[in-house]
Amino acid sequence: MVVSTTQIGLPLFVLGQSKDPHSERGVDCPGELPPASDPALVQRARRAKAALGDRLFVLGHHYQRDEVIQFADVTGDSFKLAREAAARPDAEFVVFCGVHFMAESADILTGDHQKVVLPDLAAGCSMADMATFDQVEECWEVLEDAGIAGVTVPVTYMNSSADIKAFCGRNGGAVCTSSNAKRALTWAFEQGEKVLFLPDQHLGRNTAVLELGLSLSDCVVYNPHRPNGGLTEAQLRDAKIILWKGHCSVHGRFTAESVDDVRERVPGVNVLVHPECRHEVVTKADYVGSTEYIIKRLQEAPAGSSWAIGTELNLVKRLATMFPDKNVSFLDKTVCYCSTMNRIDLPHLVWALESLAAGTLVNQITVDEDTTHWAKVALDRMLALP
Ligand code: 13P
Ligand code: SF4
Repeated sequence: MVVSTTQIGLPLFVLGQSKDPHSERGVDCPGELPPASDPALVQRARRAKAALGDRLFVLGHHYQRDEVIQFADVTGDSFKLAREAAARPDAEFVVFCGVHFMAESADILTGDHQKVVLPDLAAGCSMADMATFDQVEECWEVLEDAGIAGVTVPVTYMNSSADIKAFCGRNGGAVCTSSNAKRALTWAFEQGEKVLFLPDQHLGRNTAVLELGLSLSDCVVYNPHRPNGGLTEAQLRDAKIILWKGHCSVHGRFTAESVDDVRERVPGVNVLVHPECRHEVVTKADYVGSTEYIIKRLQEAPAGSSWAIGTELNLVKRLATMFPDKNVSFLDKTVCYCSTMNRIDLPHLVWALESLAAGTLVNQITVDEDTTHWAKVALDRMLALP
């Protein structure tokens, strides 16, 4: 099954429960999904992987379950995985254990002879779904009417659909990830006077204010569900950075109170959060960075130190196991996985690998030629950042 996202139209179906055939397409596994209770799943995955040998390259994002991450040839944050995908021209199949926008980016960055596979097509991202192509085009028209489109550089977070990346490529902009947002915004402000930052308002605000020294009053939030984004022309003209009203449903859960609370409970605790967290959380934290940065910070931390981590739970649990000499806890009191990242489980991975080993290509992610061209322009600008 080949799925072109620009053909099916986002948003992807998130939870896989509905009976609506328009939203459910892609959720069904064509073929037999092994039961999660099958005790031979690990063995089956190993066997299929060995049968595929060098034809296969498996990428795993840090938020993936342990049962899946053990089969990744490389693990990483979004930036590292994009680079790794681009650096494997010999792999016929790139199986992406992550979410849809990551697999799309891998398809854009790999050659035509390579096939990118997402083991469960319902592994989307609620943040990416918060900016559709039509909404972004409409926003650009609002900026044109306000006379500022010509001096505005669009920058999209990696967590966006391929057509939003292509929009940025076409309009002189770039992609960024949480590990290079400062460099990308610095670059963008060298190209123009203003930045339209999509779709994560928190990463945009945190980077602009805490890394680039802009003030909160330099930022406005464009709400795609309000006429003219809910902003006046004067507000748009005065702003340095126009933040799209999008957020991550996982990182949006952490609150400033959770930081105060952990500081009271755990003396000397280090609070380490992802920049997708809200501004008031990031401002109260001790350290901020991408998933790769979070891991590095823990690796370098002295034995006996205490860490409260504000990011997805699979990664926090893994860190606690990896560093038993450090006191690692989840920043929030209630647990929170990324439900879409979690859709990639061992049964889906086994099904995808066994299908490929048997000569059946399943769940291929493809991006059409024009979108690929312009999205690659934006991705290449990111990859070329100093
Ligand atoms: P990074 O791994 O790039 O930090 O991104 C986090 C994330 O939310 C991916 O969806
Ligand atoms: Fe999207 Fe947030 Fe999940 Fe990342 S953690 S895939 S941004 S919903």
